[in-house]
Amino acid sequence: MLVFAIKNLQILFPAPGGVIHAVDTVNLELNAHDKLALIGESGCGKTVLAHSILRLLHGTTKISGEILYRGTDVLSANDSTLQKIRGKEIGMIIQNPGLSLNPVRTIGKQIAESCIEREKMSSVEAFKYAEDMLKMVGFSNPTKIALSYPHQLSGGMAQRAVVALGLTLNPQMLIADEPTKSLDEMSKREIIDLLIEMSKDKTLLMITHDLEAASCISNRVMVMYAGELIEEGPTEEIMNNPRHPYTKGFMNAQPKRGLKPIPGISPSLLNLPKGCRFHPRCSYAFPKCKTNHPELIGRNGHKVRCHACH
Ligand SMILES: Nc1ncnc2c1ncn2[C@@H]1O[C@H](COP(=O)(O)OP(=O)(O)OP(=O)(O)O)[C@@H](O)[C@H]1O
Ligand SMILES: [Mg+2]
Repeated sequence: MLVFAIKNLQILFPAPGGVIHAVDTVNLELNAHDKLALIGESGCGKTVLAHSILRLLHGTTKISGEILYRGTDVLSANDSTLQKIRGKEIGMIIQNPGLSLNPVRTIGKQIAESCIEREKMSSVEAFKYAEDMLKMVGFSNPTKIALSYPHQLSGGMAQRAVVALGLTLNPQMLIADEPTKSLDEMSKREIIDLLIEMSKDKTLLMITHDLEAASCISNRVMVMYAGELIEEGPTEEIMNNPRHPYTKGFMNAQPKRGLKPIPGISPSLLNLPKGCRFHPRCSYAFPKCKTNHPELIGRNGHKVRCHACH
């Protein structure tokens, strides 16, 4: 059953030197319990895309297209509908726990706050619920963690607390933005296992640089480059048979696959190249790639935006 869809999403930021094309004509569909990994290098538009889903972008941003959650267009929803969707239908694990946790409030208070506000719990009930949430995400000493301030937690513990925060209102869909970033190998593995467990009966959109995390958690992968989707397909297919030269390069740049960086740099989103956005860095580029923008096309759910791949 289709629960979530994005149609022709375009996100532009007016800037002094022109317009930043952060997200361009993105389309995607998620069925109930789908686990989608969105991958791509820094600055390609992943977080902007995630934030647009809960309308977290600032007022001057120009957004067009549709973001449909169970048929309701989030972009045109009124405040009360939006409020119901935020946290309760779609939960968000924001990139960087340092930014998503309030440094002057205890972890327990931060979880309890949304229960008091949204679920009308008393403060005693809410604090007890916060402890239960912390226990659920694997803390063996939930009371102590609930009474701790963010700076008293290690990176892995803070990320675990952020997962609890995102799950507080038991949303049907979860967006996790780089949940394993900056964690040591052991904490990374623990957070991956936690997300697998916690998202079992949920629809998941996970943004990650980490191919291992994407392989373990997702059943589908979408690859983004310079604001647009350039490849998508079933996880196993993308991991074992990537077709776009960028996806191949992104994989070879991973520490476990040789750490070979892709030559060149991503284009400025203020001044995108004509034709294929990857052509200046692509060793397979031929004249058509410099002039014609390729479509995202393919068979059996594996689509690629590349003239050289078809
Ligand atoms: N509020 C904003 N105003 C102007 N430009 C912005 C704004 N937010 C993001 N951008 C630009 O949009 C582009 C995409 O940013 P985004 O944060 O989505 O990247 P990302 O793919 O999440 O990168 P990372 O992997 O480093 O988290 C970047 O060029 C960024 O500078
Ligand atoms: Mg990001």
